[in-house]
Amino acid sequence: MPEKPRLLQIGTITERMAARLAAGFEVVRLFDRPDRAAFLAEAGAGIVAVVTDGHWGVPPEVMAALPDLKVISSYGVGYDAIDAAAAAARGILVAHTPDVLNDEVADTAILLWLAVSRRFLAADRWVRSGDWERKGAFPLTRTVQGRTVGILGMGRIGQTIARRAQAFGARILYHARSPRDVPHEYVPDPVALARASDVLICITPGGAGTRHLVGAAVLDALGPEGILVNVARGSVVDEAALVAALEAGRLGGAGLDVFEAEPHVPEALRRMENVVLTPHVGSATVETRTAMGDLVCDNLDRFLEDGTVLTPVPECRHLVRA
Ligand code: 8YV
Repeated sequence: MPEKPRLLQIGTITERMAARLAAGFEVVRLFDRPDRAAFLAEAGAGIVAVVTDGHWGVPPEVMAALPDLKVISSYGVGYDAIDAAAAAARGILVAHTPDVLNDEVADTAILLWLAVSRRFLAADRWVRSGDWERKGAFPLTRTVQGRTVGILGMGRIGQTIARRAQAFGARILYHARSPRDVPHEYVPDPVALARASDVLICITPGGAGTRHLVGAAVLDALGPEGILVNVARGSVVDEAALVAALEAGRLGGAGLDVFEAEPHVPEALRRMENVVLTPHVGSATVETRTAMGDLVCDNLDRFLEDGTVLTPVPECRHLVRA
């Protein structure tokens, strides 16, 4: 039997993925190696494929240690932790998992908005702590009906969030690098978008281009009644500025699924009652993660068949067409 091509696994994968990958590849796991640099120096040549995820990506020193690398298949849609332009320049295909998680991440964004606005977790604690019996009715909250919802990033997930927000009678505004072909009003400046919005939902790609796009100016424009929701990347929001705005009452509340230094979440945020925090679970359901894992493996199967992938990142599309 001919030797199977070697695949490097970075991060964790599901059993279903592991079984599928083992059928086509000899899988080696980077995180099992006590001395990763020594392992890569010795075994890096010969590795043709990498499986990773949006959190770990492919660190530059790992990419540099893999001279025979041909394909990277990432378990997530966001690929800011992979230098896709550098990969494309080396002829390495980068594949990700777009579309299959649109509904899940959009649901997460709406859940966070509703939970902050209606103070659902505080209301739950009111019951559990006995406050309902001791103190009586829970304080009134603010409605989510008929709000102006600003969406930062109007890609596939942004459009899915917009459709859901419309079910709450929302007026939708958005900002992106350039206007998109969507039936929503484009606002060319993020500060102006925040000023006009009751809730600002971040679903823009991460990376250097969007780092701290939401800083003090945007947060102040959102204002003391405004709510920030982040289901994009922690890097999009200046976390120190966010904490300062919330502490000073310059921002109404926040629903956060992503953070600047995951899994670390600033202590100040953890203490706040007007903040809902989730551990990067935007796409984390059995159904959606199964679909994502299947697409990761489908991309690699296609690579084994004909040297292409099904869902390349934009930087690598020309490599598939060629
Ligand atoms: C994953 C994500 O949690 O798709 C993304 O970009 O952020 C998530 O679905 C991530 O890939 C880490 O596994």
